Amino acid sequence: MVAASGSSRDGWSSRSAFILAAVGSAVGLGNMWRFPAEAGANGGGAFVLFYIFCVLLIGLPILLSETLIGRYGQASAPESVRKVAEDSGKSKHWDILASFGVLGAFLVLSFYCVVGGWVLYYIGVFAQDLLATGITGGAFEGRPSGDIEALLPDLFGNAGLMVGLHVLFIAITFYFVARGVSSGIEWVATWLMPAFFALFLAITIYGAFTGAFSEAVSYLFTFDASKLTGAVMLAAVGQAFFSLSLGVAGMMTYGAYVGRNVNLAGTSGIIAGADTAVALLAGLCIFPIVFAAGLEPNGGPGLMFQTLPIGFQSMPVGSLVGLLFFVMVFFAALTSSVSLMEAPTAWLKGKANLARPAATLIVTIAALLLGILAALSFNTMADFQPFGFIPLFEGQGMFDVLDTVTSKILMPIGAILTALFVGWIAERRLIDAENGLTGGLEKFWLFLVRWLCPLALIIILIVGIFPSILGE
Ligand code: PHE
Repeated sequence: MVAASGSSRDGWSSRSAFILAAVGSAVGLGNMWRFPAEAGANGGGAFVLFYIFCVLLIGLPILLSETLIGRYGQASAPESVRKVAEDSGKSKHWDILASFGVLGAFLVLSFYCVVGGWVLYYIGVFAQDLLATGITGGAFEGRPSGDIEALLPDLFGNAGLMVGLHVLFIAITFYFVARGVSSGIEWVATWLMPAFFALFLAITIYGAFTGAFSEAVSYLFTFDASKLTGAVMLAAVGQAFFSLSLGVAGMMTYGAYVGRNVNLAGTSGIIAGADTAVALLAGLCIFPIVFAAGLEPNGGPGLMFQTLPIGFQSMPVGSLVGLLFFVMVFFAALTSSVSLMEAPTAWLKGKANLARPAATLIVTIAALLLGILAALSFNTMADFQPFGFIPLFEGQGMFDVLDTVTSKILMPIGAILTALFVGWIAERRLIDAENGLTGGLEKFWLFLVRWLCPLALIIILIVGIFPSILGE
């Protein structure tokens, strides 16, 4: 099939465009919002250090595997896997691994845009505050910090607003994906990612000089082996995949748009390094404020939306910093949501032979509807807990179910299959030509994808999902 090599073949215009887009996909709400929340909920240091271990020894080799499959296939994720399989003389049904991935990306997209909607709301609130109180004062100057904390529960309680914001965020994502790879997705990444990094650096440096910095450092980096339970390990590996956009066909899809001259191993290192640095810095930005304010670090979705803004209250130009912070998070979220939408869009476009805007529209409407269920699980549908009878999903509404299913089940399974596929199924000749590695490093990478990644992931899945096996 030559579907991918038609006149309208998609592609990045340069190596740096690919790096920006892939870093844009990786860096997002996963770093700024989900990482601190998960670190707090899973006890800090043990989680964080295991997370770093997962990024280096599991995430990075899988990231290279995914981009490599994409570039070899030059098509949607399932088509690329099929091409690698067929050219290796193996069953084309291996494409199931990417089909699951496409489904996973779609599921993440649906609840990701709900959180994207919260970010839009905060931009509105902080912009209003800036206009009302002027640039010199702190955010919500002269008002109790309870007013800031109340923003999130108030939003959650307003079903109509939650749905409206979700629709707005997904509509913005639709606009850029429908425009295509180089004029839409690449445009977002090349303008918004540098803006993100500039703002992020300024806010982190500022944060390092205020707040309880050393307490935060010891909370995040002190390893206490007794806290490393099966559940914490599964949470950490899930966070590593979520943050690196792995196991859901996203990086395979982006890899398909990369030119032959790009060294995939080197760029994978840059992507993983940038992503991890942003997550750790986000932690170092948020936790000092938590401790300085005498709050509990036990995580949950409120850290970025409630605790951090309290820090903006005591800053001299806090309302401006608050506004800039949420604008920056919006940029990061948008460059990720476009990649989440691109994976199912590329698949549908190839599968049904549709024009890009039509394929994008269908994906958008489907994710929009599912996302509405996720948005309503914070209010009118809070009691709808369809999988509550399974311990892993205990007490979870639709939003949490979608998050758990993707990060703790689909992403690890997608990664196991990818590792097995690249390590054992695909022909070496073909892999060697794509991976950009030589000598000992190449052997080490092969060892990781053949042995360490699948085995470690299988063990983590087992001890994480069935903690009772360990008697926890
Ligand atoms: N990595 C993105 C983030 O951290 C989320 C994402 C997951 C994007 C999977 C694409 C695929 O926000």
